[in-house]
Amino acid sequence: MAIERTFSIIKPDATRRNLTGAINAVIEKAGLRIVAQKRVQWGPAQAEAFYGVHKERPFFKDLVSFMMSGPIVVQVLEGENAVAKYREVMGATNPANAAPGTIRKEFAESIEANSVHGSDSVDNAKIEIGQNFAGFEIVG
Ligand code: CMP
Repeated sequence: MAIERTFSIIKPDATRRNLTGAINAVIEKAGLRIVAQKRVQWGPAQAEAFYGVHKERPFFKDLVSFMMSGPIVVQVLEGENAVAKYREVMGATNPANAAPGTIRKEFAESIEANSVHGSDSVDNAKIEIGQNFAGFEIVG
């Protein structure tokens, strides 16, 4: 298996409830390494650009305003099969369908306030990492 990098967001519902450390404990326990990390608050430019692929979806406007509603923690995770592994650790997008022990089952409030984001492919991980980090900010 290849060593990969994936992009992760700890969303405003989780930072608001002081869950950054609890979520990162699950991530690290799964064998993923946090090789870049910063706490930021997005404005419309960042949120709309990041979720541009969902522009036509009915939930787009609410999603963008939710993602600007408080601080988020953006991270790069590294490890074997990191993209698929992190998606497994996060659980299903809708916490109602997430498996026990996953981040979303344990922590998420709703399909929108679902605590975390993770890239869905290696190609998208590269794009999302590039949107959020300069090369010198990633230290493996
Ligand atoms: P995320 O993995 O960040 O990617 C898109 C986000 O849209 C998703 O997580 C959810 O938080 C949010 N979302 C809100 N409503 C829906 C919905 N009905 N279906 C899918 N995603 C939704």
